[in-house]
Amino acid sequence: MTDLSNLVKKLPKAELHIHIEGTLEPELLLTLAKKNKIDIPYQSVNEIKQAYQFRNLESFLALYYQGTNVLLHQTDFYHLTIAYFERVAQDHVRHVELSFDPQAHVSRGVPFSCIIEGILQGMEEARDRLNITSKLILCFLRHLSEDRAIDMLKMALPYRNYITAIGLDSTEKDIPPKYFERVFTQARLAGFLTVAHAGEEGPASYIRQAVELLKVRRIDHGIRCTEDPDLVEKLIALKIPLTICPISNIKLKIFSKMTDHNIRALYDRGLFVTINSDDPAYFGGYINDNFMQLIEHLNFQASEIIQLCKNSFMASFLDPSTKESYVKLIDQIAQTEMGLQPA
Ligand code: ADE
Ligand code: ZN
Repeated sequence: MTDLSNLVKKLPKAELHIHIEGTLEPELLLTLAKKNKIDIPYQSVNEIKQAYQFRNLESFLALYYQGTNVLLHQTDFYHLTIAYFERVAQDHVRHVELSFDPQAHVSRGVPFSCIIEGILQGMEEARDRLNITSKLILCFLRHLSEDRAIDMLKMALPYRNYITAIGLDSTEKDIPPKYFERVFTQARLAGFLTVAHAGEEGPASYIRQAVELLKVRRIDHGIRCTEDPDLVEKLIALKIPLTICPISNIKLKIFSKMTDHNIRALYDRGLFVTINSDDPAYFGGYINDNFMQLIEHLNFQASEIIQLCKNSFMASFLDPSTKESYVKLIDQIAQTEMGLQPA
């Protein structure tokens, strides 16, 4: 166990499914609430932590959106972003594909320019000071209409060069991806790649729609794909990565305990699985904690942890030569740490 925790710490990794708003730690939430004079129903970090008990995705999202209310100024988005990068530098994260939910902020009167420029400032500093590269994913909120998503896309166009992909998140039940087909087509025509949350609480058919209609390059979560064996075949054949978030899935009661999580089955089936933290400030675990859960509860071995770290880069939107150099680096570190030869 000691050896494997060391290995997890030392291996470079990419995080591909992380919501910047979900990295708002209770300390920063309290500081920003005070600074910006925003009423929140908590007095202390402890009270906040006590409140973070969720029945399902919906009950989590209520607190997540409440948390976003304290983010008002460009500097708030910058502090939020750089705090996340500083935290994951300790986990040896070397590349991040960061999601943000601008509709949660523009609806409160925060200009889009403040949101994105604050985040970009954090990303640039992370690159220069912490040696962590990153790309940005703008997510549409699926509880809002497609017309609102189209408005958002128009707002984002002047920042086209700073946004790599468009995503889809928020409430999933009864809101199929097909409702967003038109705006995703527009986004692709404008040059964005696409990803979408699907098959977290929603059925396998939503994953199929995300692949077939929204033409996504990755599925966020995707754990319910197993309900449709043909879909599983298709995801394997097309090498579509699933960005899985084990601790999130337990906290949101998708599975009742880690030993029940289906990531072991998905991995063994040959799906292109990656490990991520989703909303670590709310779920109490960053990326390495997620890896440790697999080791402690699902019997993941050194060679599998190494493969998952390689997958994280291979599933990213980095260019092929950068991906290859990370794979080589992982092999070198694995060999030094464990005496393991490349697979
Ligand atoms: N927004 C932030 N976290 C999310 C999740 N796990 N599912 C859907 N939308 C989200
Ligand atoms: Zn998510």
